[in-house]
Amino acid sequence: MSSVVGDSITVVSLGAGIGAQIDGINLREPVSALSKAQIMSAWMLHKVLRFRGQKGMSTQQLVDFSRLFGELDRAPTPANKTGKPYLADFPTVTAISNIVVDGQPIGGLGAYEAEWHTDMSYNDHTPSASILYAIEIPPSGGDTWFCDMYAAYAQLPAELKARIAPLKCVHDASRNSAGMLRKGWKEVTDPRETIGAQHPLVRTHPITKRKALFLGRRLNACIPGLSLEESESLLNTLWSHAVRPESTWVQQWKVGDVLVWDNRCSMHRRDAFDASTRRLMHRTQVAGDRPY
Ligand code: SIN
Repeated sequence: MSSVVGDSITVVSLGAGIGAQIDGINLREPVSALSKAQIMSAWMLHKVLRFRGQKGMSTQQLVDFSRLFGELDRAPTPANKTGKPYLADFPTVTAISNIVVDGQPIGGLGAYEAEWHTDMSYNDHTPSASILYAIEIPPSGGDTWFCDMYAAYAQLPAELKARIAPLKCVHDASRNSAGMLRKGWKEVTDPRETIGAQHPLVRTHPITKRKALFLGRRLNACIPGLSLEESESLLNTLWSHAVRPESTWVQQWKVGDVLVWDNRCSMHRRDAFDASTRRLMHRTQVAGDRPY
């Protein structure tokens, strides 16, 4: 564990190359320019930042904090069938939750396991950051795991780096990160027919300029230009390399935790939890670029 002291902020690294805790800051108050600079440099280094003890943060304060990282995306289509946004006054805030009110889920992902993914990688422009604020957590389960995609790329053998350098991958838009078919989408039976954005397998982070492996999501992924067998075999090799347990860090939530992750150089997954318990997270997402 390393520790760096800035202004009044302390940065303590939590994992093997990914994850750090920022202490000494109250996100319910405006963040100074110096603190913002320290947070940004810690974020570029550690890819995932945790701010503990932020219980009682209002939705406006979450939005103000999230805006430090860039322009916010509108929240995705609500999980409920009413078509109404989660919070009428906050179109950029959504819920990740298993809570059901009047027969309608208030948020996405239920209590299911969410498979390894990068948020919304099936779009042409993919979010740079995602921010999750823990309001209610279950007594067990629902942990969120992260892996470092810079390290995944850097640790590939040279011949594999050369092989994937010109290749792209199709990122399936038909299923959510819990693997469930989205409303109105057809089941993919052959990955060569997958619908979704095509992105390079190796992307360059627009700020650090470092290269990262960019896999997005495994189900129905396909590498154009390769036979289905070659594509499956190469993707299996890259995926098992990227999510090796020794390259991951796990967030075990406490109420009041705020987590910020960089979708350009990390992937995440979430453990399932007991559906009879409650989990409520507020989530914002920062708009990003077309991966290159
Ligand atoms: C997600 O996969 O984006 C949600 C993570 C979580 O619920 O912890």
